[in-house]
This record gives sequence, C-alpha cells and structure tokens, in this order.
Amino acid sequence: MPEISEPKALLATLKGVKQEKAPVWLMRQAGRYLPEYRALRAKKGGFLDLVEDSDAATEVTLQPIRRFGFDGAILFSDILVIPRALGQDLWFEAGEGPRLAPVLEDRTAIDRLVSGRGDMASLDPVYATVTKVRAALPPTVTFLGFAGSPWTIATYMIAGRGSREQAAARRLAYADPQAMQMLVDRIVEATISYLSKQIEAGVEAVQLFDSWAGSLAPAEFERWVIAPTARIVTALRERHPDTPVIGFPKGAGGKLAAYARETAVDAIGLDETVDPVWADRELPPGLPVQGNCDPLALIAGGARLDGAVDAILAAFAERPHIFNLGHGIQQDTPIAHVERLIARLRERNA
Ligand code: CP3
Repeated sequence: MPEISEPKALLATLKGVKQEKAPVWLMRQAGRYLPEYRALRAKKGGFLDLVEDSDAATEVTLQPIRRFGFDGAILFSDILVIPRALGQDLWFEAGEGPRLAPVLEDRTAIDRLVSGRGDMASLDPVYATVTKVRAALPPTVTFLGFAGSPWTIATYMIAGRGSREQAAARRLAYADPQAMQMLVDRIVEATISYLSKQIEAGVEAVQLFDSWAGSLAPAEFERWVIAPTARIVTALRERHPDTPVIGFPKGAGGKLAAYARETAVDAIGLDETVDPVWADRELPPGLPVQGNCDPLALIAGGARLDGAVDAILAAFAERPHIFNLGHGIQQDTPIAHVERLIARLRERNA
C-alpha cells in the first residue's frame, strides 16, 4: 500500500491516513505578512510580475517553508490567471484589488468570451514554477497546486472585480441560466486542463478555492457549486487517480455535508465559522478535514490562540485532520504568532 510508506504527513492525511501530529500549512502562507516577500515584491514590481517570473515565484513559494517548516507548500500564483487565460485583461488596482475586463454583463459578452481563443499559453510560467519548486522542496513537504472553483471565478469574471454579495453573478444566473452554464462549462474545461498540467509538472494534491460558495441559495448551490466541482473531481480522478483534491467551499455552512458527498472531494476545507464538533459529527466518517482556526485569533495570539488550536485538535482527534486557518493569513499577522502556533501544534498534537 503506497499510504503506509508515504513519508509526507500532509499527503498521507489527504489519502485518509490520520497522523499522530496533524500536519499544517496556512492559506496565503506566501505573501505580504512576510518581510522577505515584501522585499522581493519591492524589487520585482507588481504581484503579477512575481507570478510570471518562475524563479521569483519559486522563491516566494519556498519562503514560508524555510521560515516555519510547514508540511505543505502552496504554489505561488493566483486564481485569476484563469480568467486571463480565457481572454480577459487582469490587473490589480493598488489598495483596492483585482480588476478584469471586459466585464461579462450579458449573454452577448459571454458568447464572445467563450467563443474566443483565449491565451492558454499565459499559464506556461505557472507550470515552469511547479517544476522548479518540486525539484527544490525537502522530501517531507507536500506540494499543493490550486485553482479557483468555477462559481467563484465566474463571480469575478462577471463583475470584473471582487464584490461583496456577488450580486451581478447571482442575477445573471437567475436571468439567463443558459448563459451562466456556458460560462461555467468553459471554466470547468479550462480548470481541468490547468490542474492536470500542474499535476503533470509536479504538484501532489490540488485545492479548489470556492471563496464565494456561501452566497448561493440551495438550488443554486447545487447547480453552480456542487455540479461543476463534481465534474472537475471526476475528470481529475480519471487522469490522476493518486492526486487528492481538496474542496474549500467557504461559507457553505449547513450545505457542507451535501458538498462532501456529492462532489466526492478527497478532503474538505472548513472556514472559521464552522463549529469543528458539528463538522466532525455531520461529515462522512473518515473524510479528511482541513482547518479551521480564525485568522484573527492568530493575529491576537497568546492564550486565546492556544485555546482555539487545542479545541480544533480535540474535535478532530478521531479523523484525518490537516491544521490550517479558516481563510487566508492576514497581512498584519505577527511572525511570532505563527511561530507560537507551530510550536503549539508540534507539542500538543497527540
Ligand atoms: O496561498 C498562497 O500563499 C498561494 C498563493 C495565492 C494567492 N492568492 C496569492 C496572492 C492563492 C492560493 C490565492 C487565492 C485567491 N486569490 C483567492 C481565493 C482565496 C481567498 O482569499 O478567498 C482569491 C479570491 C484571489 C483573488 C485575489 N488575489 C484578490 C482578491 C487579491 C487582492 C487581495 C489583496 O489583499 O490585495 C489578490 C492578490 C494576491 N494573491 C496577493 C497574493 C500574495 C497579494 C499580492 C500583493 O499585493 O503582493
């Protein structure tokens, strides 16, 4: 059995083998809370310049591994490289966030996008980064690739930016479900190809970030979150049966159990609003979970952080568990608190 000889604790956990000490990585672990990231970013220019320079992106991927010894490294890139590969322009407004153009306000705009050729070659630097990182990683560290989930990607493509309630995408899905389906199908297809190439270049597991899964009514959640995710999982499993897929439907709450069953993801990421005791009771037995410390508890640090960590470990004592935050680490997180978190995990985990 490959699991038994698996030297990577995170990968083994994703394959359903509980580890004595929960492995750990943190979403957004490569980024602005790290002084070495800020220094390299200042030297290289914009965020996308870093992503496109595979030597720089490799260095950024490795920075948090060197500093903290995490069990997992996550590829340094962004979910929005897929809309760009599909033909939208992508840029970041300082202090505001991502922008995509042209926006997809109706069926005509969607038609134009899905019938266009796009620029899939714009993803080539990402695969070059994967190859370089894989060659440089210590043998105990699991390498994670990722993509956005179709629903979350569609919300950015339709609005052209982040939006609080994803109203434009939700409206379009009700007003013209066929147009929405065309767009989602195109994203599903691109995502399967993108993740397959990441796997072929060397990532060992992949995560689907569905940051806005929480904004949908139940029937819409079935159609735009569960169904497209299930198609991606099925296609990847056919091509790469040994590569686990982590689903992270942020904000899914009471729909988590249905998501786990119907998408057949190998592991499920939980955001910080989910009660871990409830999750352990409601999710399929043996399904590996990842999460779910509040990023703000990490900023607070101290005894409160220790208590939050211990409660999560206790709730998942009986199932494969990867320690993580419930969402990305924030920019103003003190390095010393991350060190304290790692020390607590290494000492308390039984
Ligand atoms: O986790 C990692 O360390 C790997 C790299 C990674 C980034 N973004 C790097 C990044 C990953 C996995 C993402 C995912 C991502 N990107 C999501 C899903 C997860 C989530 O947070 O909900 C989303 C919605 C995006 C889109 C995106 N990219 C936004 C909204 C922003 C702006 C955020 C901000 O604070 O300015 C980005 C930029 C971005 N992606 C940065 C990083 C390190 C900041 C870049 C910088 O200014 O240096």
